[in-house]
Amino acid sequence: MPKAMLSPSVMCADPFRLGETLRVFEDRGVEYLHMDVMDGVFVPNLCLGTDFIRRVKEKSAVPLDIHLMITEPEKKLSWFSFGAGDIVSVHIESGEHIDEALGRIREKGAKAFLALSPDTPPESLLPYLGRIDGVVVMTVYPGFAGQKMAPGSLEKIAAVRRLLDENGLETLPVEVDGNVSFINAPLMRKAGADVFVSGSSGVFRPGELGDNIDALRALLEGEETA
Ligand code: DX5
Ligand code: ZN
Repeated sequence: MPKAMLSPSVMCADPFRLGETLRVFEDRGVEYLHMDVMDGVFVPNLCLGTDFIRRVKEKSAVPLDIHLMITEPEKKLSWFSFGAGDIVSVHIESGEHIDEALGRIREKGAKAFLALSPDTPPESLLPYLGRIDGVVVMTVYPGFAGQKMAPGSLEKIAAVRRLLDENGLETLPVEVDGNVSFINAPLMRKAGADVFVSGSSGVFRPGELGDNIDALRALLEGEETA
């Protein structure tokens, strides 16, 4: 099982302390910065615009994990700053031209991940398996931080992991996004998750950010030895 990777959800950070937060992320060696993009159409919320993402990319050496909760992503990818080492995920539910979106992400050297909302079955991935670099299993309904894990999420993580393995994609990572708490994270790890988007119930829970990152990392590594 590959090493667990952390991708803190930047939309959950205190905007008035963002510079300090990015420094802590770098010091603690988080693998990615999760950047939620919402257009108010695909999900009933708006967040993290193109200029914000560009500024974070300029300020931080940590690779981005851009989560596009937008319609017609293939038409809007050129608006975003990303490249080699970054992850860009598009929702399988977000339009008719997902193939084109995945291709455009890879053209810029980034990893193309396909995100599934809770009600979308794992089998939906089958037509895309040759064109993705990872899968995001949404463990909450997309649109808001601070929600509770959707029922059946752990079984779905395991089912996606099984489907990838059965298709010779044992090294393709599974990312989990939503209510990755100190209770849920080890269960998600046991179910087969590799990349952990951590927001309000994880690294941004009350307490020191750096300590929370270290504690979550230790919890997940503990799982690896279990
Ligand atoms: C929700 C976003 C998640 C969210 C995670 O649509 O995709 O990344 O910010 O926040 P928590 O960890 O609080 O569920
Ligand atoms: Zn997200």
